[in-house]
Amino acid sequence: MATRNVLLTRILAVAACVTLLLMVAGEEKSQVAGREESSTSDVPTEMEREPAPAQESPDSVHVLVNKQNPLSPRDYAPDDLRTVDAPHEFADARLREEAAAAYEELHAAAAEEGIDLWATTAYRDGDFQKALYEQRRLEDGPEAADRVSARPGHSEHQTGLAVDVADLQDRECYLRPCFGDSEQGQWLADHSHESGFIIRYPEGVEEITGFAYEPWHLRYLGTETAQEVHASGLTLEEFWDVAPAPDYAEAYAPGEAEPSTTDYRAGLTLQVGESAQCTAGEIAVDRGPEVGHGALEEAAIARGGQA
Ligand code: DAL
Ligand code: ZN
Repeated sequence: MATRNVLLTRILAVAACVTLLLMVAGEEKSQVAGREESSTSDVPTEMEREPAPAQESPDSVHVLVNKQNPLSPRDYAPDDLRTVDAPHEFADARLREEAAAAYEELHAAAAEEGIDLWATTAYRDGDFQKALYEQRRLEDGPEAADRVSARPGHSEHQTGLAVDVADLQDRECYLRPCFGDSEQGQWLADHSHESGFIIRYPEGVEEITGFAYEPWHLRYLGTETAQEVHASGLTLEEFWDVAPAPDYAEAYAPGEAEPSTTDYRAGLTLQVGESAQCTAGEIAVDRGPEVGHGALEEAAIARGGQA
């Protein structure tokens, strides 16, 4: 009996040792797995990668510009602008180099599918934006103007990363919301992210973006970010997790405008091509030298849209 008890005690002791060993081994194994896990999680997967954040620098393609975030400096002008090598309505349709190349790619991709895109205005300097905004304000009043036209220093057009696109065959929907239902508007909504652009002012989100639906206004962000924004279905403000910008922080103070050195009427020179339906005569609105730089906007209005 005593021998059996000793045997039983030894068996139990061995079993306990084995269990302990197994537990320790298991512990070590899970620690290794943990190390392995943490070493692999150091390399973020596509899904885990943080999106490129909003930038303050106006030279960044990720610069955030809205009613709460003016350009700094407000008279910023890019130094790598060039005219896009694609059909454009007016003589002057410049974008920053990277955005211009992307727009040309976008235009070519659309053309391959039989979609005829025309750039209207692209880069607009602060003086030009001021003229557009003030003309809109004069004609429609401050509230209506602020829904559709950015104040100088607050327009993406001043970054050289934004371009307005039109279907020159359809004057009814020229720079109007119904452009979104056109073949061109639909194609842009479905494909512009593939070349690095987003529709910056989608429908029904004015309280976030600060502006009414503009299916024609493309903002360049680079392919990766544009694709992420498109896939998210969010506004740029939401995607970058920044505050909505329904209103300006301050009342409009026009200030003293520097005399413009740009003859914007030069912008009224049309590239009259096969598919252009308008002629210079139709849009040339000459109100005299004192208001010369408002003429392009007037032309746009004359053609039924809002720039
Ligand atoms: N129409 C857009 C908001 C601009 O003026 O920049
Ligand atoms: Zn625009």
